[in-house]
Amino acid sequence: MLFEAIERKGTGAIKWDDTVRRFAREDLLPLWVADMDFAAPVAVQEALAQRIGHPVYGYSLYDDAFFEAIQWWYAHHFDWTIEREWIVPDHGVVVSINTAIAALTDVGDGVMIQTPIYPPFMTAVESNDRTLLENRLHYEAGRYTIDWEDFEAKAREASMFLLCSPHNPTTRAWNSEELQRMAAICRDNDVLIVADEIHSDVVHVRKHVPIGTLPQAREITLTLHAPSKTFNIAGLNQSYVIIPDPEIRATYRKRFAQIGLPHGNPLSIAALTAAYSPEGAVWLEALMEYLEDNIAFVRAYLGEYLPQIVPVETEATFLMWLDCRALDRDDAQLEHLFFDQARLALNPGISFGQAGSGFMRLNIGTSRSLLEQALKQLHVAVEGKRG
Ligand SMILES: Cc1ncc(COP(=O)(O)O)c(C=O)c1O
Repeated sequence: MLFEAIERKGTGAIKWDDTVRRFAREDLLPLWVADMDFAAPVAVQEALAQRIGHPVYGYSLYDDAFFEAIQWWYAHHFDWTIEREWIVPDHGVVVSINTAIAALTDVGDGVMIQTPIYPPFMTAVESNDRTLLENRLHYEAGRYTIDWEDFEAKAREASMFLLCSPHNPTTRAWNSEELQRMAAICRDNDVLIVADEIHSDVVHVRKHVPIGTLPQAREITLTLHAPSKTFNIAGLNQSYVIIPDPEIRATYRKRFAQIGLPHGNPLSIAALTAAYSPEGAVWLEALMEYLEDNIAFVRAYLGEYLPQIVPVETEATFLMWLDCRALDRDDAQLEHLFFDQARLALNPGISFGQAGSGFMRLNIGTSRSLLEQALKQLHVAVEGKRG
């Protein structure tokens, strides 16, 4: 299968068409927002074309095929048999995070997150007037681990834990031991787990374990997932929540109903159903290979030409988390180097919270040639050949 970057300029793509407005420069290579430059699987394209071919786009059902596709994907990919009634369709994982906080905690309640973290985790807690409890991840020798003493202390104060599994931006794919320990501490302290597993299909180092499959967590976990990252269809805004516990599900559903978006989008339903299929699984295998080659390419380039930039091991996702602290620049200077001198748009580590200071997040979901060009520009900028 051929993965090549598609020309996206002029399609309204945030990554390509909003770079000028956001970063006030016209000449940046966009390697930031987390979508890829690859075409969606042919099966998805065909399903969309077929649905578009019927020219009425009215209110649409989440039909049997939609639920069966999700059940199939979970059985196939994660060995998890999920009941149809556990699945609550939604229009985006961030929407579900906000809904879960609003439905299942009270104003002022503590909600724990692990920093550095995908920024909407922080905004969701704060904009819902909950108390942000930061369990800062421990970074040592190129690896992130959990500060367990702090995790237990924060769990005692928390009503909810927003788990990011795998974790964006550090790309940690939590292992079974870590997941079991987090689950047990949450259970012992009556902490609900909201597990954002949107990156769980793209794990490079081990088989992903949904925390909701663990006996300690099954009754207290909401699992949030979507085909959007995996199949590069984020613009279709189709996600879902898996909630095995009937009481939690009813409370969640009640708050969800208040939002007033009970129906599906016919195109998004068609796309999910086509993606979660044997064809989608084959496409994903090929994608993983391409991404892993990209990761190896970036690591080798940095190792040879830019050893001051140390990539954290990419355990999951199409994102790389670069430790730039040896460049000896503060966050503003780092941005100046990447944006103004190297002409690259990456996500500054500091935007993932103070714990991300000194880092940059690189999106490698693009062609090898674009990555090579980006790394060359960075090399020139670091060597000081361009002002
Ligand atoms: C961890 C994580 N959760 C959620 C999202 C966004 O999901 P959605 O577009 O479904 O709201 C992203 C996108 O980058 C993400 O990295």
